[in-house]
Amino acid sequence: MYNNLRPVGIIGTGKYVPENILTNSDLEKMVETTDEWIVSRTGIKERHIASKDQATSDLAYEAAVRALESAGMSGQDLDLIIVATVTPDMFFPSTACLLQDRLGAKKAAAFDLSAACSGFVYGLATATNFLKTGMYNNALVIGADCLSRITDYTDRNTCVLFGDGAGAVILGEVPQGRGFQSFDLGAEGSGGAHLYLEAGGSRMPASVDTVEGKKHFIYMNGREVFKFAVRVMSSATETVLGKAGITKEDIDLFIPHQANVRIIQSAKERLSLPDEKVMINVDKYANTSAASVPLALVEASEEGRLKEGDTVVMVGFGGGLTWGAAVLKW
Ligand code: ACO
Repeated sequence: MYNNLRPVGIIGTGKYVPENILTNSDLEKMVETTDEWIVSRTGIKERHIASKDQATSDLAYEAAVRALESAGMSGQDLDLIIVATVTPDMFFPSTACLLQDRLGAKKAAAFDLSAACSGFVYGLATATNFLKTGMYNNALVIGADCLSRITDYTDRNTCVLFGDGAGAVILGEVPQGRGFQSFDLGAEGSGGAHLYLEAGGSRMPASVDTVEGKKHFIYMNGREVFKFAVRVMSSATETVLGKAGITKEDIDLFIPHQANVRIIQSAKERLSLPDEKVMINVDKYANTSAASVPLALVEASEEGRLKEGDTVVMVGFGGGLTWGAAVLKW
């Protein structure tokens, strides 16, 4: 896919989750649900929730500082900051601009990217292309979300599913043969009505009615999103492998969006992958939207599950509807 352009890959990683943990038994006291239902239908046991004074940029900042440290860099070395999020601190300035200031990244361009749970992979593809063309040398890409701020904790259909967190990577030039080999990004806007947050934008500005009507919370048709997810997880993986000129047998670690362990198991079976090649941490963090794939990637790296030269496949799917897949030589 990228024959004559310089190799670009991940040269630093960091993650952050808030300290406060909300367990399934805590949720049993809030809505009519059970630990047994949540674990058997989703695989989720607990999730981390931001404290009252923490916003998405605070989570993103902690992850970014760790990623910069692991790359041996400071904010001044960055040329580009992309934050993938659907829960920015505010409409504008962007969360990326807030971070640019806090990190002292004076020469970095900065913008947010909205592709829901696929946002991190969209961000990786965007930054990689800036770096491959030589326009920039070092980029910070972050997936960060505080879904707890847009979750209705009286709605058992959604409140058990989500958590807060941030994962960050530094992209830069890597040795030949390593780095990103291919991307596959896609959208199915016709499915947008299955997963959305209705109010607060220009179509339906915030009002007493929108607040009383609970229109500032996530609405999700779980069954439709489930069907979409199962379909695109395997089709996007096969497409991105084909673009890289490799097959599913070449995968060393598969890092799927952590929404529901049943969706992950279904992709695992369709791709005939053994357990040890599939990263799962949805039990600890639940669905953290744009943070989900980077949290899983960084945790896999911290656990020593990634060796130099390994073939890593990341796949995200989410609101839009959108999907994004990447093949990376670690
Ligand atoms: N506890 C107990 N019962 C519940 C709960 C709960 N927390 N939530 C729903 N139920 C009930 C429902 O009311 C329903 O009852 P009914 O049959 O009497 O109507 C029953 O359980 C079964 O509901 P289903 O929707 O069939 O349950 P399903 O097995 O499909 O699981 C789930 C629901 C977990 C939401 C699943 O559909 C799913 O994971 N979907 C995908 C979600 C996803 O991946 N989202 C990603 C994007 S998120 C983003 O972008 C921000």
